[in-house]
Amino acid sequence: MTCAGDSARDRALLERVTVLANDRVSEAVGRVVLEAPRVARSVRPGQFVHLRIGEGREFILRRPFSIHRAYGDRFEIIYQVLGVGTRALSLAERGETMDLIGPLGHGWDMPEGMSHALLVCGGLGAAPMGMLATQLAEKGVAVSVAQGAPTAERLVARELFSDVARRHEVATDDGSAGARGFVTALLEPMLADDRPDIVYVCGPEAMQRIVAVHVADAGVSCQVSLERLMGCGIGACLSCVVSTVHGQKRACVDGPVFDAAEVLWESAEIPPKH
Ligand SMILES: Cc1cc2nc3c(=O)[nH]c(=O)nc-3n(C[C@H](O)[C@H](O)[C@H](O)COP(=O)(O)OP(=O)(O)OC[C@H]3O[C@@H](n4cnc5c(N)ncnc54)[C@H](O)[C@@H]3O)c2cc1C
Ligand code: FES
Repeated sequence: MTCAGDSARDRALLERVTVLANDRVSEAVGRVVLEAPRVARSVRPGQFVHLRIGEGREFILRRPFSIHRAYGDRFEIIYQVLGVGTRALSLAERGETMDLIGPLGHGWDMPEGMSHALLVCGGLGAAPMGMLATQLAEKGVAVSVAQGAPTAERLVARELFSDVARRHEVATDDGSAGARGFVTALLEPMLADDRPDIVYVCGPEAMQRIVAVHVADAGVSCQVSLERLMGCGIGACLSCVVSTVHGQKRACVDGPVFDAAEVLWESAEIPPKH
């Protein structure tokens, strides 16, 4: 494992950003729009930022958030309120400033020559997939989306996926939209009816693991985006390890996106509350 001084750290950008909007999306879920010209213009799908949300001891550690969409000088984060940091983020008002480093990490790979991609997302797993879906569609790749959430209201970015996807299937735990049950139930028919060249997955780790097994059985390539506790975000503290067939990797610089076939799921170091 390499450590300090690698290229991801060197590329990391420190930027003072301004809140342009901060709206409720559903219960305990919000969307913040930040003016951040450098990050917005250089980010690739699946990358994240490390955000210092406030001042004082509770905010010494930055919080990692995926970039959902970027356009012009701005980008969007979709966040779930869990603890002190995300609660503070939910209270940020238009005109407030905060600082971040980013864009960070290795995002989704988009191999040349693919014609059909299937995106599988559970809950907030939709967050790192907005830009991916849009850029795939712009490249002429047919996009299918299987999306799951506890309720219809929690199907975040549903409109974006409906706009860009050729096929968009949803499942909710309570049956308030689409099929009743887990998103994994949508997977088999979607893999069988219209075989994709690649499957992209994000959501709770248990769900990602189940999807990865199904996709491997179908002989299709699969990428997963894994969440870990992150101290530094730039490869120095080793708080974010992921066990892989190539040894321990750091989610902040080697990921968060990994080839699902390389992840040693049994050793998963899953963060609390996820
Ligand atoms: C690469 C990456 C991308 C992410 N993208 C998103 C996103 O788009 N939207 C979203 O809502 N959440 C995302 N998360 C999870 C988000 O970072 C945590 O929910 C958030 O840090 C919790 O902070 P808190 O202060 O509210 O919670 P607390 O539990 O009070 O946090 C306490 C400490 O633990 C750390 N921490 C807690 N949970 C996590 C976690 N799951 N991952 C990393 N650090 C954690 C925080 O940095 C903080 O230092 C992402 C995590 C990673 C690793
Ligand atoms: S090495 Fe510090 S967060 Fe990844």
